[in-house]
Amino acid sequence: MGISFKEVTHKYPGLKRKQFTLAIKDINLDISDKNEFVAIVGKTGSGKTTLVEHMNGLLLPTSGTVGVFDYVITPKERKNPKMNKIRKRIGFVFQFPEYQLFEETVLKDIMFAPLNFGFKEEDAKKRALEVAKKLHIEDLLNKSPFNLSGGQMRKVAIAGILSYDPDILLLDEPTRGLDPLGQVEIMELFKTIQEETGKTIILISHDMDLVYKYATRVVAMKNQVIEYDGNKEDLFLSNKYLECNLVKPNVLQLIDYLNDKLGYNIGYDTYSLEDLIKKLEGGASHE
Ligand SMILES: Nc1ncnc2c1ncn2[C@@H]1O[C@H](COP(=O)(O)OP(=O)(O)OP(=O)(O)O)[C@@H](O)[C@H]1O
Ligand SMILES: [Mg+2]
Repeated sequence: MGISFKEVTHKYPGLKRKQFTLAIKDINLDISDKNEFVAIVGKTGSGKTTLVEHMNGLLLPTSGTVGVFDYVITPKERKNPKMNKIRKRIGFVFQFPEYQLFEETVLKDIMFAPLNFGFKEEDAKKRALEVAKKLHIEDLLNKSPFNLSGGQMRKVAIAGILSYDPDILLLDEPTRGLDPLGQVEIMELFKTIQEETGKTIILISHDMDLVYKYATRVVAMKNQVIEYDGNKEDLFLSNKYLECNLVKPNVLQLIDYLNDKLGYNIGYDTYSLEDLIKKLEGGASHE
């Protein structure tokens, strides 16, 4: 159970009849609803957003099927009463959060989804205040969501989905527009949520340092298909990342340099600059 793509193709209609853009092609993909931290990566236009927008029925496949929990989304789907249930279980933070916000105040915006999913006003408010605290946005609660900076809007959009506690979190570039500390804070929050609750997190990112530090599985898109699906070490410690048009995480570039040029012997089980510094301070072996 979880998410299961079977031969999914999506074509966006063009301006003229019979014209279309092929966005994803013959995708087969299975993601469990527990304990996964999957990063979806790949060049601009490779199909990442289109892929994840099928996971909660925002887009319907042109052909193929998408299984979500015990429900199957098919090309013929129209309005289906079960879709609301799926959306409650799969929280989605859009690539452009300004499209996601619409209430008068930030507080109302964060409360909107829980209210929509049947929580009582009091509970919805309590949850909204809790997540606002976690994300350090209490001072924004009475502002209009449209008068915020890009990074603040993103945090509000993230608060909006955390407020109803979905089983799977879909995050389309959640750190984009945040300052460096804000990025670390948000990623640490997702990591804690993942570790404490076993929820699956699916994250699109162009930041290979964050991907290498936090994800356990990487799905790399290239030219509308999945070019790689597997563990991060296999991808980045071989040349496979080059075939996927990706760059090597900084920490690995630095370890290569220290090992190859300066005679260090640092293990590749090092996932961040902080890890590397700790190893160096601890007297990493040096020939
Ligand atoms: N609404 C749309 N209408 C028509 N074509 C679209 C639409 N959205 C995306 N496309 C096209 O589908 C392809 C895949 O786009 P998609 O947004 O999924 O890429 P992406 O990997 O998320 O890129 P980015 O990293 O820039 O966000 C691209 O060729 C894009 O131009
Ligand atoms: Mg995108």
